[in-house]
Amino acid sequence: MCGIIGYVGNRRAAEVLIEGLKRLEYRGYDSVGVAIANAGTIEVRKDKGMIEFVSAQLDFISIDGHIGIGHTRWATHGAPCKENAHPHASLDNKVILAHNGVIENFTQLKNDLKTKGHTFRSETDSEVIAHQIAEHVNSMPPLKAFLKTLNELEGSYGIAAIFADDKDEQIFVARRNSPLVLGIGKGEMFCASDIPAMLKYTKTFVPLEDGDIAVLSANGYKVYTLDGSETKRKQITVDWNVEMAQKGGYPYFMLKEINDQRHFINETIASDVVVAKKLIEESERIDIVACGTSYHAGLMFSYLLQQRGKSAQAFIASDYPFIVKPNQKTLVVTLTQSGETADVLQAVRYAKKSGCKLIAITNVVGSTITNIADNVVYLNTGPEVGVAATKTFTAQLAIIYKIIFGKEKISSLSDLFAQMMEKENEVKQIAAQLKEKQNLFFIGRGISVPIAYEGSLKLKEISYIHSEAYPGGELKHGTLSLIENGVPVIVLAPTDDTLPKLFGNLKEAKTRGALIISLTNDEKTKAESNFYIELPILDPDLYPFAMVIILQLLAYHVSVLKGINPDRPRNLAKSVTVE
Ligand code: F6R
Repeated sequence: MCGIIGYVGNRRAAEVLIEGLKRLEYRGYDSVGVAIANAGTIEVRKDKGMIEFVSAQLDFISIDGHIGIGHTRWATHGAPCKENAHPHASLDNKVILAHNGVIENFTQLKNDLKTKGHTFRSETDSEVIAHQIAEHVNSMPPLKAFLKTLNELEGSYGIAAIFADDKDEQIFVARRNSPLVLGIGKGEMFCASDIPAMLKYTKTFVPLEDGDIAVLSANGYKVYTLDGSETKRKQITVDWNVEMAQKGGYPYFMLKEINDQRHFINETIASDVVVAKKLIEESERIDIVACGTSYHAGLMFSYLLQQRGKSAQAFIASDYPFIVKPNQKTLVVTLTQSGETADVLQAVRYAKKSGCKLIAITNVVGSTITNIADNVVYLNTGPEVGVAATKTFTAQLAIIYKIIFGKEKISSLSDLFAQMMEKENEVKQIAAQLKEKQNLFFIGRGISVPIAYEGSLKLKEISYIHSEAYPGGELKHGTLSLIENGVPVIVLAPTDDTLPKLFGNLKEAKTRGALIISLTNDEKTKAESNFYIELPILDPDLYPFAMVIILQLLAYHVSVLKGINPDRPRNLAKSVTVE
């Protein structure tokens, strides 16, 4: 996935684009570029690398002009390099655009353009769009040429385009299955892949819908549908401030976001779940679809529903269509913090075709999932920038608990999170024991199992240490052969009804020489552990919240001790918009 920013108004465009690109970098950061129009020409500067480095090297800030677009890339077609970096230009450099998404029929379009004499500078699908618009703009006004091109594209796109000869100084934007939001200022307009990129300048936004096109000028904007008719879209205001989208004094977003959980959780708890709760209560069968961390929250949801006698199952979204034949009586619930995960979107579209109702639990206002779902529950946890999901996971759990138990049960989470944060130094000492390890295991039982999975995923994604998680009873069915002297086993052992059996699994591992690290408030378990983090005595249903904070901190500190940037783990991006 990539990030797009556009600006038109009285400010120097370069300044706004650089600021926006810094905020968007979590969406991809292998190359970056800007295009700024001035007196009939458009200056494009771009290269491989991150914004801070490339903008200094190429002196982005020195480019004059009040209208421009910028892009930060995460490669899908063609390796990260200067040629493949956006913005891309038509052959005559008169049409310049930035694109996010994948154009499925680009080979066919490219071949057609080649027969008309076009040559290409990059391997990207995106460059083809600029050439195609340029083909049309010779015989029609920019808006018509833009529209005609969009109607010829198959696949997904968020696009921002500018035209060198456009005396009206306009930015043409479009979205289909790739986010694009307009930002509204006084005598200026913005567009970007998400809200935080524009927060420094405005708090008023218009999330575009799939199939929308918008034309922005310093005086305002107009929205059209793909057939060219004008339409209106709802304006929203958000009360996030820039600080909320920045590091706020923490060395990394991830640590800030772990800390933020205590501040945001009450806003999550205030979220409206009335319709979702009713739909769930009335449903005979509930399929939960999600990926990664969100799947772990989904698993917790399914366990809690199953414990209450409901027919509920959690599925990995990318596999859902291969396993399940939903029908009109199936209620589908998806958890997706970004609302843009391609695997999730294909699964829910598949379900909707069978007539299922869909509840979406998401953090991102105006994201694609919000246009598909029958009911949306927002996490209200502010933007999450770190690639590793932290506060969105606890927010997902809180929404699930509110639906299942009601809000009283979770009313003291903020205090609990604050209490768990006090353990950070102890966690850091344990992290020091783990940083040189090659393999690591997490075990738990019952509702601790999704937390074990989540702790393991968090650790591996940002520390690059191989780790696996199991229900404790599974160790003896194969994995025990991997336990030898010094192999860490992290045991989630709160005093609930799983403890007696889990204790047996701990002993099995210990006998084989495992380094036992437990999260516990049980004396016997502490005595058998090489290290432990003390859990407070809690309502047993709430232990998952306490334990996951510790595991997030553990992953974070192992990552930092290994000299890794936890906000930008290798090979991963914040939202995964390819299947
Ligand atoms: C891990 C992580 C990912 C996401 C997954 C789904 O820290 O963030 O595993 O949970 O890519 O993303 P969403 O929730 O945006 O659908």
